Amino acid sequence: MASFLKLDLDASFSPGTGITEEQWGDAAASLEAARREMLQVDSELFNSQGPVPPEKEPLDAGFFEMPERILGDYRDRGPASELGQILSTAKRIRDLVDRVVILGIGGSYMGARALMESCCHPYHNELPRGERGGRPRIYFEGNNVDNDAAQGLLDLLGRGRTANNVDDRWALVVISKSGGTLETAAAFRIFLRALRASCNGDEHRLSELVVPVTGREGKLYDFTRALNCSDTYYVPEGVGGRFSVLSPVGLLPAALMGLDVVRLLEGAAAMNGHFREASFEQNLVMRFAAACHLMYEQRKMNLRLLSVWAKGLEAIGLWYDQLLAESLGKQEQGATPLTVVNTRDLHSRAQQHQEGARDKFILNVIVERWRRQPLEVGVLEQNQDQLNAIGARSLPDLMTAALKGTNQAYRDDGRPTADLHLPVVDEYHVGQLLQMLMLATVLEGRLMGINPYGQPGVEKYKQHMKRELGL
Ligand code: PA5
Repeated sequence: MASFLKLDLDASFSPGTGITEEQWGDAAASLEAARREMLQVDSELFNSQGPVPPEKEPLDAGFFEMPERILGDYRDRGPASELGQILSTAKRIRDLVDRVVILGIGGSYMGARALMESCCHPYHNELPRGERGGRPRIYFEGNNVDNDAAQGLLDLLGRGRTANNVDDRWALVVISKSGGTLETAAAFRIFLRALRASCNGDEHRLSELVVPVTGREGKLYDFTRALNCSDTYYVPEGVGGRFSVLSPVGLLPAALMGLDVVRLLEGAAAMNGHFREASFEQNLVMRFAAACHLMYEQRKMNLRLLSVWAKGLEAIGLWYDQLLAESLGKQEQGATPLTVVNTRDLHSRAQQHQEGARDKFILNVIVERWRRQPLEVGVLEQNQDQLNAIGARSLPDLMTAALKGTNQAYRDDGRPTADLHLPVVDEYHVGQLLQMLMLATVLEGRLMGINPYGQPGVEKYKQHMKRELGL
C-alpha cells in the first residue's frame, strides 16, 4: 500500500496551554460543516460555472480537483493532453539548453522553488550536465527587483554572448497569471533582451526558447503571441496564484527539473480522496486545520511556527507561509495566523521558542526516511572532541536525538506542538503535503469566516507602485 503522511497531535493537548478534549469534541461539528461547504457548496458552485454570491467572490476553488483532472486527461489523451505537452516541451528545452531562468513572483514562482529544493539533488545546479541527467540548471528571477541579483544572473548567462552549443544556451519560462505583474514584466524585458542577443538575431530560435505560462488574455499573453512562442501554457481559470503549484505553473518547471510529475499529482489526488472520505478523527486535513484553528482561537497563538527538520523542506515552508498569509492574514479584527519558518538550526531560535512568549503553535515537519545512505560520525585516532563514543552513530541518529530532545523541552514547558511526518521526501509525498496544506488553508478560512481566495492588499500596492512610476 502506498505510504501516507501522518499527523501526531498528542503534544497539542498539553494541559493548561494546549487544546482541551472538550474543545476538540466541539470542533468536530464545525469542521464537518466547513468540509461540507467546500465539497458540496463551493465545488458544486464552481463546477456549475453559475453566478457566485458576493460573499464567495472570488471562488478560486479550481485547485481542488485539478490533480485528478490533469491526470485523467493525461491517461485518456497521452501526448495530446496538457501534461503530455508539458512533458514534451520540457524534453525539447532540456535537449536545447543547459540553463533555464524562471520568471515569476509570489504564487507564480514559490511552488516551483519549493519543488526544486525538496525533490531535486540539493546541489542540482552545481552538478555537471551528465550527473544532472541532461536536466538544465534552474534559476528564479522576477520575484524581486534586486538589481545586483539580476546582474549576477546575467553574468552567469554570458551577458548576451552568442550561444553556439547546448552548454551556452539558455531558455526563459515566464509565469504570470494576470500577465501584468510589474516585477515579472520588467524582468522579462531585461532577460528577453539578453536571450535575443544570445540567439544572435535568430528570432525563430528565440521563439523556441521562451515559454510563457499565463492567462488566456493580458499583456504577457499579447507580448508572447507577438514573439510567436512555440509553446504556451495557461493558468486555469478559477485557480489562484498561490493555489497553482499543481497547474502548469509548477508542473512545467518540475518537468524541466526532471521530476516525476505524475507521482506529484498522484500524491495530491490521494490527499484529495482522503480529505473527501475520511472521518474527522482520521482526517489529516481536518485534524490539522482544527488544531491550528483551536490554537489560534482558544489560546491566541497567532504565530504558526513551521519547524522543518530537513533543509530541502525550507522552501515548502516559505511557500506555506505565503499561502497562509495571503489567504487568511487579511482581516484586521483579531490576530491573524502568521507562519514563521524555522530551520533545524537550533542555534538560531531555540531559546525564543522554548522560553519566549507563548504565542506560537509549533508544527514540526519530520522526515522519516532519508533518501541517501546514513553518514556515520566515525571513529578517529584523535579524540579531542570526544565523539568516538558516538562514532557509530549517523546524522539521522543525531537528527532523531535533536528532535526528541527539542520536543521534550517543549513538553516540559507546556508548549504545544504537532508532528507532521513525511515517510520520505519525494514527489508523491510532496504532492500530498502541498495539497494537504492548500485544503487545510481553505478549510481554516471557512472556519474563520474569511474568503481565502483573492488578493485585495496586493492590488493596492500594485496601484501605488505604478503611480510612483507614472505608469
Ligand atoms: O498568490 C497569489 O495570488 C499571488 O502571490 C500571485 O501569484 C502573484 O501576485 C503573482 O501574480 P501573477 O501570476 O498574476 O503575476
